[in-house]
Amino acid sequence: MNLIKTGVPGLDEMLGGGIPVGRTILVTGATGTGKSTLGIEFLVYGAQNSENGILISLEEDPEDLYEDYLNFGWDLKKLERENKLRIITPPVPLKIEEADVDVDSLINTIQRAVSDIEAKRLVIDSISVLTSGLKEKERRKKILKLSTLLRELECTSLVISELTETEEENSDYGVGGYIFQGIISLYYKKKGAARVRGIEIRKMRGVAHSTKTKTMEITSKGLKVYSEDFII
Ligand SMILES: Nc1ncnc2c1ncn2[C@@H]1O[C@H](COP(=O)(O)OP(=O)(O)O)[C@@H](O)[C@H]1O
Ligand SMILES: [Mg+2]
Repeated sequence: MNLIKTGVPGLDEMLGGGIPVGRTILVTGATGTGKSTLGIEFLVYGAQNSENGILISLEEDPEDLYEDYLNFGWDLKKLERENKLRIITPPVPLKIEEADVDVDSLINTIQRAVSDIEAKRLVIDSISVLTSGLKEKERRKKILKLSTLLRELECTSLVISELTETEEENSDYGVGGYIFQGIISLYYKKKGAARVRGIEIRKMRGVAHSTKTKTMEITSKGLKVYSEDFII
């Protein structure tokens, strides 16, 4: 099986090399757990290694993204100019409670962007925006439609889904984990007065991955996963 490196130090080791090429992986966690950073790091690593990428950013403004991720030394604007990265945002800033991004037009946009820059990596941040406010049946329908397209593309995709802390414990991963071929869960938990970060490969079909939750940090260079188990 061909594996694609996430580029996150320590995570590829947990995965036994990387994510199987062409698969669609769900990335879940509560707010501030590092989901967006993981997605961008995956794209930046690809862009620097001849694998172009697309970011569908439904929550953040490109200008904010450029500024925030420069702190990690990632010049997204430059990567876009070099056609190694493309950031797609909805035309009108989304108000989450009124979110109504049409999946069909989103699919068209994704297809065009992927063929434009021959993208090999894709990140959708986040699917929660697409499905908030929908009834369960409608939500599943939308996500199935999107995941069917992602399967057809020759891209390895990370689909980000935000969970609340209560959903985290006892969840079907918000969207029915069965739709995705892998699930990576991120944690940011109270330990005394501080919080500690953790990362778990909850599922990864076809891969003999680590079954333990490992400790993680966000540093000035991005995510870093340690070999120590995550204990709170
Ligand atoms: N330069 C940095 N150094 C260390 N940690 C940072 C830096 N920039 C952001 N962070 C941490 O990353 C968090 C944001 O992570 P993010 O990927 O946006 O989470 P999510 O998408 O899950 O909400 C911030 O709340 C902060 O704790
Ligand atoms: Mg985010």
